[in-house]
Amino acid sequence: MNVLAIETSCDETSAAVVCDAEEPSQRILSNIINSQVDLHAKYGGVIPEYAARYHLDVIDVIIEEAMQSANVHFNDIATIAATVGPGLIGGLLVGTVTAKTISLATKTPFMAINHLEAHLLTARLCYDVAFPYLLLLASGGHFIIAEILGVANYKILGETLDDAAGECFDKVAKMLGLKYPGGPAIQNCAVNGDPRRFHYTIPLQKKCGCNVSFSGIKTATKLHIDSIKNITLQDKYDIAASLQNVVVTFITKQIERALEMTTSNPSNLVIAGGVAANLALRNRLLTFAERMGLHFWAPPVNLCADNAAMVAWCAIERIKAGFKHSDLRFPTRPRWPITEI
Ligand code: KG4
Ligand code: ZN
Repeated sequence: MNVLAIETSCDETSAAVVCDAEEPSQRILSNIINSQVDLHAKYGGVIPEYAARYHLDVIDVIIEEAMQSANVHFNDIATIAATVGPGLIGGLLVGTVTAKTISLATKTPFMAINHLEAHLLTARLCYDVAFPYLLLLASGGHFIIAEILGVANYKILGETLDDAAGECFDKVAKMLGLKYPGGPAIQNCAVNGDPRRFHYTIPLQKKCGCNVSFSGIKTATKLHIDSIKNITLQDKYDIAASLQNVVVTFITKQIERALEMTTSNPSNLVIAGGVAANLALRNRLLTFAERMGLHFWAPPVNLCADNAAMVAWCAIERIKAGFKHSDLRFPTRPRWPITEI
């Protein structure tokens, strides 16, 4: 079963062909990702209208490339999948209408995919990870800690009360005059910095549960930056290292709390989303998982960020679990929480 998928929910135009091979390493036949970061970098963030226009400019070429590189034709494709939400409406419309049009023209069934569900099943595309698992999904727009019991059976344990972790990195990077996207820029600077130079109070430790909040950390960072008269490169490195350290420590603490809240006794810890590419976070969670006797699974960095291979895989998981294809009238959903899938 080959699935062609399209992902256009934010600033990556991506098309992929994925099959349901037993062996994970043989599943991705192609995964073309055209990033718009350079286009948005000069604005310090994604401009939705520009993103949509750029998706429209390149989508057909990206699909053609994905088909050629997988060496398949449309009659080899069993399902056309597309991210229909959540995300930026202009981009979602470009990807969804393109997928529906191909579906109609080639008489291939269409499947509407939730972007968050695609992220949270990505580890199963890459490795043989069994349900149930404890999941951290941390990206630019979302933060979720959940117990993943099966396909479409997700129990949210914790969420962010304000910003997402990636958003926090992006905003602080902007304050420091670093290049967008902020996450990789902060990680690079942190390598040369002192993580103990700037002090933070870890949020929500007096409250029960495993929700997170990053707005206080962001404000504290602004105060640290404002307290320096003439900021040097080393100051920036130290701020990046201190920020990354508090974010990683905070997330790890809340995951430990989440583990206590699980009811299915998961033996796996899985991470997903753009922030899951962060090496400090990966290392800290690996150590934590070893301490708790959990297997730790982190998708390769290129599959943590937005890509169409995860969208195709999500369609394969849903089909295998007995879910039906979608009607072509399925709407785009800029807001679509995983509890409503
Ligand atoms: O999942 P993603 O590609 O797009 C969304 O669905 O949001 O995540 C993008 C986010 C951005 O905020 C970016 O700064 C962050 O992931 N990110 C990172 C790293 N690489 C990307 N954050 C921390 N460390 C990284 N290495
Ligand atoms: Zn994403």
